[in-house]
Amino acid sequence: MLHFAHNSKLHAAALALSLTLSTSVQAAAPADAPANPAEMQKMMQQMMSIMTPELQKKIQSLSPQSKQTMARLQSLHDRRSDTLTMVQVMQEILSDYQRMATAIAVDNADMAIDAAHNLAHHRLPRGGLLPYMPLDKISNESVDALLGFQDMVEGNTLRLAEAAKEGNMAKAAGYLGPIAQGCVACHNHFRGQPGISPNVAPKK
Ligand code: HEC
Repeated sequence: MLHFAHNSKLHAAALALSLTLSTSVQAAAPADAPANPAEMQKMMQQMMSIMTPELQKKIQSLSPQSKQTMARLQSLHDRRSDTLTMVQVMQEILSDYQRMATAIAVDNADMAIDAAHNLAHHRLPRGGLLPYMPLDKISNESVDALLGFQDMVEGNTLRLAEAAKEGNMAKAAGYLGPIAQGCVACHNHFRGQPGISPNVAPKK
């Protein structure tokens, strides 16, 4: 069980979001949504309760559909860390990606399937994805873009696992490029150059 700090003002805002969510979720739950909207609501409420009021306001301003998409995306990831940051989770993802590539190179289908499963079911960092995105990048358009990145990375990773299960390592290898394109696309959208030092002039 995760433990979240509670602050009544934050909690009230979280509750307001979850109420918006519950109506939209019930009105138009997509076919692949998890069956339990109450569970989804509780998860979003917990995540919101540890966010700054600024970020909460940003999320509140999303359309009901985008809120629902975010809730669904995050509820699909039921391994949630109460401590890890996005960079730490990304390091796990990179490591799983490399493990898939190694497995394919050495014709080890079981290893490829394990790594693919781990990547597709990666942990969520503390507070979910949104706290690690620049505030000005949190918009309805970005939430839609996230769905595309999710299919490029996790969809193709699951396809890679299927191909490995069929023993077709050549087909599995074909998914490595499209997965990497998903990493690149999301980084282009949400991330600048990693690890820039404030103590050196930027390259012109
Ligand atoms: C949903 C969008 C998204 C996807 C998809 C994504 N990343 Fe990231 N990644 C980010 C963001 C945002 C950061 C910066 C987080 C921060 O600085 O707090 C990041 C950071 C990283 C980092 C940490 C070092 C750095 O460059 O900042 C690594 C390593 C990384 N990603 C690897 C990957 C790999 C490998 C994949 C594909 C298998 C991938 N990522 C897919 C959004 C994404």
